[in-house]
Amino acid sequence: MQRIFILTGAGISAESGLRTFRDSDGLWEGHKVEEVATPGAFAVNPELVHDFYNMRRSQLLTVQPNLAHHALVRLQRKYGEHLTLVTQNVDDLHERAGMSDVMHMHGELLKKRCTSCGVVSDCVSRIGIHTICDDCGHEGTMRPHIVWFGEMPLLMDEIHHQLMHADIFISIGTSGVVYPAAGFAEEAKRHGARLIEANLEGTDISPVFDEHIQGAATETVPELVERLVKEIST
Ligand code: OAD
Repeated sequence: MQRIFILTGAGISAESGLRTFRDSDGLWEGHKVEEVATPGAFAVNPELVHDFYNMRRSQLLTVQPNLAHHALVRLQRKYGEHLTLVTQNVDDLHERAGMSDVMHMHGELLKKRCTSCGVVSDCVSRIGIHTICDDCGHEGTMRPHIVWFGEMPLLMDEIHHQLMHADIFISIGTSGVVYPAAGFAEEAKRHGARLIEANLEGTDISPVFDEHIQGAATETVPELVERLVKEIST
């Protein structure tokens, strides 16, 4: 059976009601995203950074997975361990649709991490500068379990391994401007994968792909999944 590597970005969650970074011009309440999503910003103004993620966390709890998230679950049922899903998204919509083994390379909004003891735990409520770590008991050491600009994305060894062995690489709803994820398509191609991009519009890296499927993810992804499911049964 062929091995499929799927990379998703903010575009797959857009129709669930979560704004993409590009939609919002990279701005949040007048702040550049880079100014609230960096270790430096957290050091200087932790309240502002906590507010940014507290708002995003409470908004996430009001939205639902869409047809594109659900379609990928169908694909996982067919391909099983031959399918790898890496997401740049920090939402949990893939999981809520029923997907397992989702690799969150940029972290997860519904998790917090203690900067003192390093323990990662579930988090559905607000984090503040006085939040106490349930594990080590320290106060004010909790941060969102999010990879900020300038930090190393998670799970990179496993991701490179899967890219090396992919037969089909599919990119869904990502602008292809943030590295290292933006370089995954080329890496998979070097190892012989066929590349498919599904996006609302052409991206900076579209020319690298063998096939570009233009349109909204809730329409294009279910169609693509049907096609791939047929491919394995023929
Ligand atoms: P972007 O906001 O940069 O790009 C979203 C892409 O989705 C764009 O190319 C849109 O055209 C496309 N899009 C929008 N609506 C869509 C729809 N309904 N169907 C299909 N495509 C749609 O988001 P990402 O590429 O995910 O990193 O951004 C990558 C990273 O940059 C994020 O993970 C985040 C950000 O800085 C960190 O926070 C570390």
